[in-house]
Amino acid sequence: MLRTLGIETSCDESAVAVLDGDGRVELNLLSSQIEAHAPYGGVVPELASREHLKALPYLVERALASAGGPIEMVAATAGPGLIGALLVGVRFATAFAWGRGLPLVAVDHLEGHLVSALLSLEGEPARPEPERVLALVASGGHSSWYLMDGGSRVRLGRTRDDAAGESFDKVAQVLGLGYPGGPVIDALARRGDASAVRLPQTRLKDAPFDFSFSGLKSAAIRWIREHDIAAVDGDDEPSAAVCDLAASFENAIVEQLLAPLSELAAIYRPHLVTASGGVAANSRLRRRLMEWGSGHDVETLLPPPALTTDNAVMIAHAGQLAHAGGREDDPRRLDARAREVWQPPGMRRACRIDEAVRES
Ligand code: KG4
Ligand code: ZN
Repeated sequence: MLRTLGIETSCDESAVAVLDGDGRVELNLLSSQIEAHAPYGGVVPELASREHLKALPYLVERALASAGGPIEMVAATAGPGLIGALLVGVRFATAFAWGRGLPLVAVDHLEGHLVSALLSLEGEPARPEPERVLALVASGGHSSWYLMDGGSRVRLGRTRDDAAGESFDKVAQVLGLGYPGGPVIDALARRGDASAVRLPQTRLKDAPFDFSFSGLKSAAIRWIREHDIAAVDGDDEPSAAVCDLAASFENAIVEQLLAPLSELAAIYRPHLVTASGGVAANSRLRRRLMEWGSGHDVETLLPPPALTTDNAVMIAHAGQLAHAGGREDDPRRLDARAREVWQPPGMRRACRIDEAVRES
């Protein structure tokens, strides 16, 4: 693999990283835009693009000054995400790669999350990808199970409506807990009783590996309203009822995310099971996945918490693996895509399970 500069600008974090030829992290830089968006109560796309434009030159300059050697390749997120934000990163990456005559690889943001569990922030090289990895990606925009096998990525199931992280954010918003909601619910859940509030689990009959979180989210919001739970005001101490709901809701999301795992494992006989994306920072999910692994005698692996949310380390490594597999993009033709329509070779979606079984 080549020493790689990774660039990630799909949403509201400007991220730049350098990985050496063994996938060892030399530098992991992140510039958060939370303060810029806070007055508006959510991410403002135009503002996100402008903030990336300000941050990127500075971050890349710092990366070049501290990299362990000359940059040999560039990897950038080209989709999915906010189109203006992505374009800033893609244009920066294409100009940098073309100007220096370096290879360029466009990376799908989810491809990045998928490999993040193989990475270390402790100075270790990236772990080689074993055969047959079952991988959960649960973030603010996505909740899917994938099979990673010999460089190919096949999606086995996905959410039909809200993503897990989005559901955490929505319930936290109703409770007045701020954005992003996942980390706050995680912290409050530790003080609550997960069996206090009964919430529905949705299993889709026709697609057992797909998720639906909208019923669960609506039930939690209905419970808040029916029980007259007031939104938490500023620095007020959250009530026992809020902590109980946080614990019950978190438990319901985590159990739903892991519900397909035993059946998927029986079909694909994985050598490794991983979970990544922002929701993989969740302490209950991390604990439950490890318990599942020891109960089923299958190795489980989670990214370091700092690599669960968006970062450029995972983008650089996804680019390294893709490039080692023969992928390269033309800097003069590369464009960004807002939706998941852009498909790098080896990354497939909406495949039928029987098709994937035949191939595995
Ligand atoms: O991967 P990510 O940074 O961005 C996307 O690609 O969407 O994920 C952000 C999501 C947010 O919805 C946030 O609430 C959730 O990850 N999240 C968590 C935790 N930390 C972040 N959800 C549950 N528990 C956490 N500890
Ligand atoms: Zn993400």
